[in-house]
Amino acid sequence: MEKSEILILNGPNLNMLGIREPHIYGRESLEDIESMSRDQARLHGLAVDFRQSNFEGELVTIIQQARDNACGIILNPAAYTHTSVAILDALKLTELPVIELHLSNPHTREKFRHKSFVSEVATGIICGFGSFGYILAIDALARLIDSD
Ligand code: DQA
Repeated sequence: MEKSEILILNGPNLNMLGIREPHIYGRESLEDIESMSRDQARLHGLAVDFRQSNFEGELVTIIQQARDNACGIILNPAAYTHTSVAILDALKLTELPVIELHLSNPHTREKFRHKSFVSEVATGIICGFGSFGYILAIDALARLIDSD
């Protein structure tokens, strides 16, 4: 059976979107973004497994499971972007296309946000477009999956 599900995975504190520093991350909640993402994925005939966790190990487990269940990953690793070798290693073992996504543009922010462990394995990176980035990432991933 051909896989037609994508994993959209969100890291720590993204469950607080809408409340959390709205001047940086916008006023939409993660639920708003989830519903927008499902609509956009549907246009490409893709189902979405939309997840969020505040725990590094849980993110690793979800990424490991994607190996069998998903045909691609959109990942906003949030603060773990800048620290997590464990997430990098999990992504390596999936061998799936990965879009790294950030609502803000980390390169215009504090220096510690300029380093991303995930970028090393990302097929592409989308940042600085707020919640619209999720739409862009889905379109990009759909194209990558199609050209496989
Ligand atoms: C973020 C950027 C990270 O630096 C930060 O720690 C986040 C969110 C973004 O979406 O802009 O939590 O990934």
